[in-house]
Amino acid sequence: MFDFHGQVVLITGAGSPRGMGRVFARSFAELGAKVVLCDINKEGVDANVKELQDAGFEAAGYAANLCDETAVDNMVKSIVDLYGRIDVLINNAGISQKVTVADMTLADMQKIFSVNMFGLFLLTKAVCEVMKKQNYGRIVHLSSVSGKRGGGVFGGAHYSASKAAVLGFSKNLAREVSQYNITTNCVCPGLINTDIWKSMSPEQAKPVIDAIPMGRPGEPEEVAAPIVFLASKEASYITGEEIDINGGSHMD
Ligand SMILES: NC(=O)c1ccc[n+]([C@@H]2O[C@H](COP(=O)([O-])OP(=O)(O)OC[C@H]3O[C@@H](n4cnc5c(N)ncnc54)[C@H](O)[C@@H]3O)[C@@H](O)[C@H]2O)c1
Repeated sequence: MFDFHGQVVLITGAGSPRGMGRVFARSFAELGAKVVLCDINKEGVDANVKELQDAGFEAAGYAANLCDETAVDNMVKSIVDLYGRIDVLINNAGISQKVTVADMTLADMQKIFSVNMFGLFLLTKAVCEVMKKQNYGRIVHLSSVSGKRGGGVFGGAHYSASKAAVLGFSKNLAREVSQYNITTNCVCPGLINTDIWKSMSPEQAKPVIDAIPMGRPGEPEEVAAPIVFLASKEASYITGEEIDINGGSHMD
């Protein structure tokens, strides 16, 4: 149903070998998009770009730290030089840390926010200027169930706070950029089958799984599908919205 031919889709955090960004890139590529993968992990980006190119898809990669404003601006400029536009931004890069508030330092808090919120802000700001000029854009942010209900999967209060901040940022941005035909929406995954999940021991995982009505973690493909929808031309009147993708572990 969805067609991304002629569109440029930028996905952050797409350098992880078993992360969601790699799957998102493949989903958009299969629908005809030129996909641009970005990650702080250069080797990971290169491997995932090569995998797509070997499969015959149009893909490019950038190694950039989203917390570095100059690197972010240079990357956006390079993408526009290469492809002339950016139609879709998927803000997927994120970091987590399992720590209680009692043991959390200010540096821990700053580190989590520097990627999950400040890096997302820097890139979104730069990409919005491109989207405004072309009078078209779709932005999807990876928030989390943790940002809505306060943890319970992995990560500490700083992770939950950063993902809640993304929800507010996206809604406020929606008011500012709707006039340019740019939409900004969030997805809020629950436990998804990536390395984060595989790093949990069976003892750690059991109570988390028991709290999911569907009785299993989600697959990255099950997050990709709603993201593709929100990023499509067809989702033209949806903005400032959030979609829960959590097997029923949180309903509101
Ligand atoms: N896996 C889950 O269960 C789950 C649940 C809810 C939300 N999320 C969110 O979904 C997103 C993807 O999760 P994942 O499980 O695929 O994670 P992942 O760790 O596999 O991928 C995240 C990627 O972000 C990159 N990254 C980190 N800091 C960066 C920086 N400063 N600049 C550029 N790239 C940077 C990492 O190198 C990594 O490749 C994250 O935002 C995460 O918080 C994940």
